[in-house]
Amino acid sequence: MQKIVLGVTGGIAAYKTAELARIFIRSGVEVQVVMTEAASRFVNPLTFTTLTGNPVHFQMYDGQSTGIRHIDLSEGADAMIIAPATANTIAKMATGLADNLLTTLFLATLCPVIIAPSMNVKMFEHKTVQNNLQVLRSRGCHILEPNAGELACGEYGRGRMPEPQEIFDFTRLLLTPKDFAGIKALVTAGPTREHLDPVRYISNPSTGLMGYALARALSERGAEVVLISGPTHLTSPPGVKKVAITSADEMYEEVFKYYNDCRLIIKAAAVSDFRPLSEAEQKVKKHDASLSLELAANRDILKDLGQNKDNRILIGFAAETENATENARDKLIKKNLDLIVINDLTEPGAGFAVTTNRVSIIGREGAVERLPLMEKETVAHEILNRVVLLL
Ligand code: CTP
Repeated sequence: MQKIVLGVTGGIAAYKTAELARIFIRSGVEVQVVMTEAASRFVNPLTFTTLTGNPVHFQMYDGQSTGIRHIDLSEGADAMIIAPATANTIAKMATGLADNLLTTLFLATLCPVIIAPSMNVKMFEHKTVQNNLQVLRSRGCHILEPNAGELACGEYGRGRMPEPQEIFDFTRLLLTPKDFAGIKALVTAGPTREHLDPVRYISNPSTGLMGYALARALSERGAEVVLISGPTHLTSPPGVKKVAITSADEMYEEVFKYYNDCRLIIKAAAVSDFRPLSEAEQKVKKHDASLSLELAANRDILKDLGQNKDNRILIGFAAETENATENARDKLIKKNLDLIVINDLTEPGAGFAVTTNRVSIIGREGAVERLPLMEKETVAHEILNRVVLLL
């Protein structure tokens, strides 16, 4: 997704559209905002100009530019989103009334159109509005159902514009090419916990963000995904089958339960290499003397997968604090991987518990590709752009 036209009409939810614009901008999308006159009374256009870095468009003709405004704007747009969409604008769109830039642009647009109605519940449920929405739906527009809740007018019911993140997720899903359709994929994510007693464990600071981003991206791109996850606070991405585990041993068992059917396996989990040799049944009591802990090695899940690889594509991660490239190359060979993604934990903005990552990728031919600092969601898609070539 590169460029969207964001139409804003005159509803109180227009203030939430500023956040929507921000989310798109943050994910690298160019946003052109078109406002109706009524919208500009709810939110100052300067808000959108500042957020998007582009002028806000209102008028069909400004007497200055040489192009035809509605044609210029619609050209090259990947999607047009109208949020909030008032009953008035919905009616105009359903009947083809082109009396302002936004409704004219709608008629001149060939890209997918997403409409997020927002209004009073009685208005929303009025047969006229429902009919108009049905007309637009039948012409291929995507209507996002409003959420139920307390409305700005004080009433309770359906009419709240979906949250900006929901609109963004819907748009991204709609526009993402389904280049992993038909592929069964297994992703591991998060830390493992190795208990020494019922209340204490050995673990690491992984939050699972990278693995969850990969599972989400795969699912968005059409794959059937099983996500085997250590303990995290993250919710499972839509459409993904999540299997929750705690220890490395449990992860091993679950991975080998599912791997047979899978064509692609991505091991983003930060698996503990060791576990306490024995786990006490009761909480270990404090004694004056120091306590030594004897550790046993966990099985290397990825290495064992590499030995049972057949025609599967196997992607590993390497968490490194020194000699990142050499260590990762070693892991790629030893574990029989197709690709390894290096998390250099010494890089600012990379590694555990941050939403960004700066990774390098090494393929079997050995060349290192360094990616810039990006949101983990974008990193996930970048990784998949390389993986899809291997399938
Ligand atoms: N891995 C695994 N099972 C383990 C340990 C690691 O499957 N018991 C996987 C990780 O999910 C990751 C890759 O192996 O994809 C590399 O993990 P990393 O922690 O970087 O390296 P290790 O192999 O554990 O080696 P070291 O700790 O010596 O760096």
